[in-house]
Amino acid sequence: VRQLLLRPGEVVATCRNPTEQGARGLLALQREHGNRLRVLRLDTWEVDSIDEAVSSVQEAYGHINLLLNVSGVLHVPGLMSPETSLQKLKLENMERAFRTNAFGPVLVCRGFLPLLLAAGKEGQATEQKPAVVANLSARVGSIEDNGLGGWYSYRASKAALNQFTKTLSIEAARKGHVAAVALHPGTCDTDLTLPYQKNVKPEKLFSREKGVSQLLHIMDSLTMEDAGRFIAWDGKDVPW
Ligand SMILES: NC(=O)c1ccc[n+]([C@@H]2O[C@H](COP(=O)([O-])OP(=O)(O)OC[C@H]3O[C@@H](n4cnc5c(N)ncnc54)[C@H](OP(=O)(O)O)[C@@H]3O)[C@@H](O)[C@H]2O)c1
Repeated sequence: VRQLLLRPGEVVATCRNPTEQGARGLLALQREHGNRLRVLRLDTWEVDSIDEAVSSVQEAYGHINLLLNVSGVLHVPGLMSPETSLQKLKLENMERAFRTNAFGPVLVCRGFLPLLLAAGKEGQATEQKPAVVANLSARVGSIEDNGLGGWYSYRASKAALNQFTKTLSIEAARKGHVAAVALHPGTCDTDLTLPYQKNVKPEKLFSREKGVSQLLHIMDSLTMEDAGRFIAWDGKDVPW
């Protein structure tokens, strides 16, 4: 969010618990940036909260130029960790992964697509500079690239997100100047990767700032020809 705010325009950030307890950093940024940053509650498991966020954004802005879907889960302390064998699969954790990594993001896309299409109607989005849906996927969601196995739920839920994104990209491109892509950020130093970082070479572990800058650079350069791609942090295609 901090890096998005370095650019012109306004940013709407959503989170599950927009209180000092749940989103201290985000609220501090809001105090710093005033009207340029709006914080709304949205839980991707609650369709009503998605619809309410869409209505608020519609009322305030009428259109959006970029939709970034970042909600994701790999592990939850005490509840869920990536499966190292088939025997470790638990239905509730498979559901948690699919709801957070695939169903939630595509329902967010469903809600916001009319506002992305409106960017074209209002002349902000064009063939060369489309409105963008960027869904944060992961290389481990690639079926072709899966040489190690394990992490069943995370892999499969990201593969589902990829298929949702590809399908959405076709409909969105048919309807207007909206390019939907799946992005692989590389391995970034966040809570999600914290327990697994010891296996990552230091030069392959990106700071949050570097990870975000690399993805913003890619999103800035997208045209309608890129719609439906699965793109890694270095701009190269990831095999499906
Ligand atoms: N870090 C990496 O190396 C890496 C690599 C490949 C792909 N990715 C993907 O990049 C995205 C961002 O990951 P990250 O590394 O920033 O992970 P993170 O620090 O764990 O952040 C995940 C975010 O998802 C939110 N979230 C979880 N469940 C949600 C729900 N039901 N509704 C709304 N938000 C929800 C969390 O919100 P709370 O703060 O409320 O928990 C948290 O802000 C994820 O989709 C992840 O799979 C990351």
